Formats: sequence, C-alpha cells, structure tokens
Amino acid sequence: MAERLRDNRKTEEIRAKVRETKLEISNFIYPLFIEEAENIKKEIASMPGIYRYSLDRISEELDEVVALGIQSVILFGIPLHKDAEGSESWNDEGIIQKAIRYIKTNYPSLQVIADVCFCEYTDHGHCGVLCERDVDNDLTLVNLRKQVLAQAKAGVDMVAPSGMMDFAVREIRAELDKNGFQHIPIMGYSVKYCSSYYGPFRDAADSAPSFGDRRTYQMDPANRNEALKEAQADIDEGAEILMVKPALSYLDIIRDLKNNFDLPIAAYNVSGEYSMIKAAGKNGWIDEQKVMMETLLSIKRAGADIIITYHAKEAAKLLAPPSLPKGEEKMPS
Ligand code: PBG
Ligand code: ZN
Repeated sequence: MAERLRDNRKTEEIRAKVRETKLEISNFIYPLFIEEAENIKKEIASMPGIYRYSLDRISEELDEVVALGIQSVILFGIPLHKDAEGSESWNDEGIIQKAIRYIKTNYPSLQVIADVCFCEYTDHGHCGVLCERDVDNDLTLVNLRKQVLAQAKAGVDMVAPSGMMDFAVREIRAELDKNGFQHIPIMGYSVKYCSSYYGPFRDAADSAPSFGDRRTYQMDPANRNEALKEAQADIDEGAEILMVKPALSYLDIIRDLKNNFDLPIAAYNVSGEYSMIKAAGKNGWIDEQKVMMETLLSIKRAGADIIITYHAKEAAKLLAPPSLPKGEEKMPS
C-alpha cells in the first residue's frame, strides 16, 4: 500500500527528524584574497560583501571568521610583482607565505589551505609556464614543486592545486614527502571545468589571462566520463580529497564522484554563482538568504562533504545555534 508521504511533513518536529541532509558550519571553507600592499580593505565590485585585504588588516576578517565558528580558509594571493613564471609564488617572503605564517601564529586553531597555482603571479595570467602561447605541463610541474614547498615551510595545513596540470598531485606529493611534510594533505581540484562562472574571481584575484583562455588545461563542460578519469588520476597520485568546480552546473559530477569513490568530496561554489545570488537579491527578485541556503543544501545533497563558498560567513550566522536565555547557560547542578 502506498504511504501517506505527507505524514512526515506535518510539523517542523517531524520534518527535522526525517531530514536527510543537514548543513553544518564545519562543512565550509571560506576563501580569502590577500593583497601584497598596506592598509587595504577593498570590496570586489562584482562580489558584494567580499573584500581584498592586505595582511595588516586581515585580522578584521579573521576575527569574524573565528567568532562565527568557521574552521577553514583557503588563501589566494595577489602579489605586487608578476613575471613570466610567477616566481613570487615560491618566494619565502611572498605574500602567501607571509599570510600562512601570520594566520598560523595569530589564529592557530584555523585550518589554513593554500590554493596552488600561478595565474595570480604570472604577468600573462595563465596557470603555468608558457611555451608557444600554451601552458607547458612539465615545465609547470617543476615550479609547482617549488611553490608547494614554500607553502609547506611556511606552515600550511593543506594544499590545493588548481591549475589542472597532469601529474600535479604526484609531483606535489613527492616534493612534500621528500622534505618531511608527509602529513600535509592534498585536496586536488580534480575536476575543474573551463567555466565562465569564474569571471568575478578573476577581478578579485587579478588573474584573468591576457590572451586566449584556459581550454587547453581546464575541462570541457560537456564532459562527464572524463571527470571520473581526472578523479581516478588524482587518487592514484595520492590526493586525500577530490574537488569538483564549479558546483551548481556540475551537481551531476559531484554525485558521480560520490558514488564512485570513497574519498571526501569537496565542491567549489564559485564566484559567478555567488554574484548571481547577490545580484538577484539586491534587486529584490529572490529571497537572498533562502536561495543561498537552498543552494548550499543542494551542493551537500549532491554529495559534497566540503563546500568552498563565499557565502560561508552569512550561512554560518544562520546556522549558529540560538543562544540560551540569560541565566540558563549552565545545567543546574
Ligand atoms: C586559479 C583559480 C580560479 C578559481 C580558483 N582558483 C580561477 C581560474 O581558474 O580562472 C576560481 C574561483 C572562483 O571563481 O570563485 N586557478
Ligand atoms: Zn590558475
């Protein structure tokens, strides 16, 4: 006999008990843009509520992040000097290395993840070393090892290579292990599509390619089977966490990875996805908070254990447990 399915929807009490997916603050990773400069807190025009900070003001952001119970941040650096290879990215005194040391010293409880790529550091904006107007995979691997070693020496907790170079995870794992950093996990941007949803990020991180696009290294949005191959490659090379990016147009891919692999799955709710909700909310066309929470929930329901999102602070505020009325903070003894 068919169930009366509405019975389990009658009250919030029963709905809460049968709810299959729950968002938690611990699911979130919050991205930070850190500029090599002084006294900077600059809002990104296309990402309301998201700022570029210089290191001397980043505590304004971190105090709030910690107070809200967010446990993890992922760092993107905007260096003062760019060159053809992005050599600032492996400078021990480079912006990200300084940022890692600053955060681990002053906010030791925060998990600090570093994005590993070159597009913010190269004067041409591509994700590696150029050879005949395309990124050379194996020359880039050599520099990837240098960048990740500098981050490890600075005290990073996890690294996340985002450049979609073949064998990046293998090379990074080898370099970390060789230098005594076996314990640093790798979150591979395993399945990263060549997406137009990254537009606002490239303004934020000053990382737009000066010519062409990233189609020779990032994945074709049309491909689904290839995603499994990319994920398998990262597993074989030693990744601890697999990521799908972007999230919303790729929920099918998140579910594919969840169903096929045992590793934790992360999803990157990217800049363009954030900006669209903000824009529609500002216009009063949607209930911004509700659409935000429904969106984050959908990413989790699709199979993501971890969500990298610019909404993390706002979502954390909504998820925080209501504080007890005064005088009832403690159990009576
Ligand atoms: C750099 C990088 C990008 C993002 C994260 N790391 C941009 C790109 O590949 O062009 C995008 C994040 C976002 O849009 O929020 N490799
Ligand atoms: Zn890049």
